[in-house]
Amino acid sequence: MDFSIKFTEKLQNLRTDCLIVGAYQGGKLGPRAELVDNACDGLISKILKQGDIKANLGETLLLPTAPGLKAKRVLIIGLGDGKKPLSASDTQKLFNNLYSAVLKTPSTDCAINLEHIETDGQDSDWQLSLLGQLGQYSQYQYTQTKSEKELKCKLTSITVLSPLKVGKNDQLALDKGKAIGIGSNAARELGNLPGNICTPSFLAEHAENLAKQYANLKCNVLGEKKMATLGMHSLLSVGRGSAQESKLIVLEYKGGAKNQAPVVLVGKGITFDTGGISLKPGAAMDEMKFDMCGAASVLGTMQSLAEIKPKINVIAVVAAAENMPSDCATKPGDIVTSMSGKTIEILNTDAEGRLVLCDALTYAGRFKPAAVVDVATLTGACVVALGKVATGLYANKQALADELLAAGEKALDRAWQMPLWQEYQSLLDSNFADIANIGGPHGGSITAACFLSRFTEEYEWAHLDIAGTAWHSGGNKGSTGRPVPLLTQFVLNRASA
Ligand code: BES
Ligand code: MN
Ligand code: ZN
Repeated sequence: MDFSIKFTEKLQNLRTDCLIVGAYQGGKLGPRAELVDNACDGLISKILKQGDIKANLGETLLLPTAPGLKAKRVLIIGLGDGKKPLSASDTQKLFNNLYSAVLKTPSTDCAINLEHIETDGQDSDWQLSLLGQLGQYSQYQYTQTKSEKELKCKLTSITVLSPLKVGKNDQLALDKGKAIGIGSNAARELGNLPGNICTPSFLAEHAENLAKQYANLKCNVLGEKKMATLGMHSLLSVGRGSAQESKLIVLEYKGGAKNQAPVVLVGKGITFDTGGISLKPGAAMDEMKFDMCGAASVLGTMQSLAEIKPKINVIAVVAAAENMPSDCATKPGDIVTSMSGKTIEILNTDAEGRLVLCDALTYAGRFKPAAVVDVATLTGACVVALGKVATGLYANKQALADELLAAGEKALDRAWQMPLWQEYQSLLDSNFADIANIGGPHGGSITAACFLSRFTEEYEWAHLDIAGTAWHSGGNKGSTGRPVPLLTQFVLNRASA
């Protein structure tokens, strides 16, 4: 998608497939919409007066033709009462409704005039970035395994009509949003692909292709042999029952000084989670193809960063494996030695995410990181606690938690902090190993985070449990691309600090 911003005085003379004009409740038009209205002989104000559209926030009405204008069609969009600034989520709703209405038309380009809307606590760069992000995000369509590959969306170009002279940061803000949209859509595609296509090797190839596509990315993939020599027996225990080789994928973005400590993003990449010998029940088990969404979001974030090119060093580490039952699969009661040297009693083979993550987290320590953030569809318990709205956040350093909360707030991709208190740690005691991989029926998301915390004592670390937020179930089943916006914003904030 091409995004541009321009200042045009004569909106009525603009040639476009779809001119989008904002209108206020009560039939009021802003000064620029008024120009359009005059040129088409008061058609828009007449329609508003008739009550065909009340101009409630985000309400749309399409005029398939508009005499007197150079635009092929006009889309009226409600801006609400225009009395006070919109909330951030109302702004998001407005933009989403706008795009979903344009996408239903056969337009190949559109031009957006929203007058001068304000958002509470945010500036116009934030609005432009969101407009770019949602524009890119809204045109995503899954086709890879469908016979019909034609995209419903014909739109290739979006022009924002600025009410003011265009500043030099305006295009940058749009492009930043577009880059977040690109990364989110890449993550969605990986998430949506079925487990028989998106295997650990497929994820590795995807990362290698990113490194070919972007000169600022470098990729290194470790196979099972190499991981064994590193002592990653916890990670390796998860893929033992699978014919697919487990992979540790390292993707580096170098935008900062050579010696600057990197941010490391660690992703859970279980390309299918059957539960292993602790087999999951059958209902909705297909959704466990999404169990690599942490990995997908980390790779998607790297792509966003490769596009935006901030001055900072970031390394992605993806732990990819398939969790299957078989005669050589890991069994409940088995004990493995992790790369850290700690022994783990695997009491439930369905608690596999933490088993791959602990070794990836130990590996992350090699980079002497400024901070490490892991992202994982880790626990059903997190979905019980927070539903499908907020990502669960844990951290061993409050300042890092605050940074991630703020980034999520700004990116409209929110997280909610959960406790990582000492009192929960003893739930992981084992009679036969240093630690057990499950903590019993209570506080399942917390004990999973406690498990990870045992492997992250050497650096500042946060954990994002995205079990509830990584995908939609039901009729619109599909990956959301979260938390690419949060992670990208987090890195950008660090780069500009
Ligand atoms: N991938 C699942 C977590 C999950 C389940 C995410 C459902 C989204 C929806 C994870 O590997 C898992 O199975 N966790 C277990 C842990 C338990 C055995 C301690 C869970 O949450 O039930
Ligand atoms: Mn599992
Ligand atoms: Zn899992």
